[in-house]
Amino acid sequence: VTTPPPEIHPAWLPPQVFRHIGSRRCLVHGAGTLVETVFEEVAAACADHGGSAWRGRSPARQPPADLVFALREADRPGCARLRHEPAPAALSTADGAGAGAVEDESFTVSRDGAVTTVLAEHPAGLLHGLFHVVRLGESAFAGAWPATRQRPAAGRRMLDHWDNVAVDPVMGQVERGYAGGSLFWRDGAARDLGRVRAYARLLAACGVNAMTVNNVNVHRTEAHLLTDRLDEVAAIAAVLRRYGIRLHLSVSFAAPVTLGGLATADPADPRVRAWWAATTARVYQTIPDFGGYVVKADSEGQPGPFGYGRSHAEGANALAEALEHHGGVVHWRAFVYNHRQDWRDRSTDRARAAFDHFAPLDGEFRENVILQVKYGPIDFQVREPVSPVIAAMPGTRVAVELQVTQEYTGQQRHLCYLAPLWSEVLQFRPWGPGASTVAEVAAGRRPDPGAGEVAAGAGPVGGGGLVGVSNAGDDPYWTGHPLAQANLYAFGRLAWAPELTPGSVLDEWIGLTFDRPPGGVPARLRDTLHAMMDGSWRTYERYTAPLGVGFMVRPGHHYGPDVDGYEYTPWGTYHFADRDGVGVDRTSATGTGFTAQYPPPWCEVYEALDRCPDELLLFFHHVGYGHTLGNGSTVIQHIYDTHFAGVEEVVRMRGLWAGVADLVEPRLHARVGERLDEQVRGAGEWRDQINAYFHRKSGVPDARGRRIF
Ligand code: GCU
Repeated sequence: VTTPPPEIHPAWLPPQVFRHIGSRRCLVHGAGTLVETVFEEVAAACADHGGSAWRGRSPARQPPADLVFALREADRPGCARLRHEPAPAALSTADGAGAGAVEDESFTVSRDGAVTTVLAEHPAGLLHGLFHVVRLGESAFAGAWPATRQRPAAGRRMLDHWDNVAVDPVMGQVERGYAGGSLFWRDGAARDLGRVRAYARLLAACGVNAMTVNNVNVHRTEAHLLTDRLDEVAAIAAVLRRYGIRLHLSVSFAAPVTLGGLATADPADPRVRAWWAATTARVYQTIPDFGGYVVKADSEGQPGPFGYGRSHAEGANALAEALEHHGGVVHWRAFVYNHRQDWRDRSTDRARAAFDHFAPLDGEFRENVILQVKYGPIDFQVREPVSPVIAAMPGTRVAVELQVTQEYTGQQRHLCYLAPLWSEVLQFRPWGPGASTVAEVAAGRRPDPGAGEVAAGAGPVGGGGLVGVSNAGDDPYWTGHPLAQANLYAFGRLAWAPELTPGSVLDEWIGLTFDRPPGGVPARLRDTLHAMMDGSWRTYERYTAPLGVGFMVRPGHHYGPDVDGYEYTPWGTYHFADRDGVGVDRTSATGTGFTAQYPPPWCEVYEALDRCPDELLLFFHHVGYGHTLGNGSTVIQHIYDTHFAGVEEVVRMRGLWAGVADLVEPRLHARVGERLDEQVRGAGEWRDQINAYFHRKSGVPDARGRRIF
């Protein structure tokens, strides 16, 4: 078991959280790699905390245990009462149907008053059961309670790393990485696997079961991971495997040309397909449980099927065909838009692009293609409507992509707990009240036009799961800002159980990360962290781009304000502010027609100025500064008020943190303190630039007479 070296922060698995398990008599029963891992974890905990752990390989008499981990089909000496328990009806995970199925990870946990038992059909269930018991802490061993079955909502819960092997002088090593270098690659080669193992362990403990280890923008060096550098990838896969995580690779659509020496990458060309088939077969010889490919095609300069006059379905299917009989999947990204737009051209709307490209292809993708859709139609802004693509493709497996790395949400210098944003997205109902949520679509649950809802997994296609762009790097705190660890944790937990509230996930994270024996986390620290973090996403929204308008960041690095930074560029991200008003008219009546991409009721809600939610107003409408919001304020006064309020909230956060210096390890306290200083500075800069900009444009004074520059 890897206990991270002292200089590496243990994140949500400090050794003491294992004391409840480690002080007991623990039996681990069953065979398989992940059962070995469970046993190693339990044995290490017992070595630390005075308990005892043993394997129950044979039916020989076992000493009595307090905690049992057992595979259901295994003979379970000493737990006869469980032999009569019925096996659960549904064994496969919701999106496990069909090609590229993920192993069943469910488990049952129960307590009869003397013994706590975790039962699973498959070893992966025991692994997740172990971390469930860790989260329960002492309550796992108190009283008696009936069996509860835990089952992940989405079968595949994946983290994408935008890591490069080579270091770019401008972008650094990790694209949009704010936590140091890559966890996987250093000095041009695979790095210290001990750190990778510690990372895999953290991820398993929050429910992640798949990952890519290289950037979706596949550069020259990284392209070779697929072929001649496969051994390095295999070494990483071997470490991840011990924590139930399958490795996927980002690949370039042009690989048959750049790596294979062919004259074309045309997906219809038999030589191209043969190249993908042979290359993929070699990958599976080396990594038998390889997960599949992630492809960014025809997007921001990456090659794709358009170059050969082919559709994205034809492109994706060619790779899917090569993966299919190995059990692999293609994650094909829907982030396709024209990044060379003429800013004068008002007929093109970047928000429309993914739907326009992909919705007509619904039903054309092979079963092992997963269309990976960013949660919003633009690009991970602090506030966007949910992407209409998610509702538009009932015949396609859809994965929803979230950005854990804080590219547009403060770059891990600002505290911004993102679970409330993700939870809003996951609980959004694209077809209106009573119909499926986004989380259910990602889990493979669809509305059936004929018969209303269909049950999870029973629909014509499965789900694609949830994908997050990782925020972790080789920083000793993993995430640069130590409190940004909560975002990584929350991603995994919400992917497993999207119905969890952001506050309860944060509470779990606090309980583990700041655990202090014997009594746990001091209440004052717990309360302070909630007070700082629960509302931090909305605070960030208040002092940055207002009312859903998006993209007022500095071009290139995307940190800090630059209101017109993108206004006259080819990137398709405009706010159209002038002396009279601001916002993008995306209505069907007078604008770009984007609202019509939504099914009812949302097409009507977003179209109507008086029904559109305030927080998305400027995403859908161009309005005058004097327009009155649903909250009674005018647009211009709302901009001033929220920007002043947002900065005050950050100043308050910093004060709260100062007040718990006695309860937090000094280096961690200092690191967070420095980041809060920068957040106060940065938020002030946002406030002053945004307020000055709109004051100068509109000429409308602040009703409260505050200082605007
Ligand atoms: C954003 C980000 C890029 C990234 C891209 C993507 O545009 O700024 O760095 O490559 O998203 O998701 O592919």
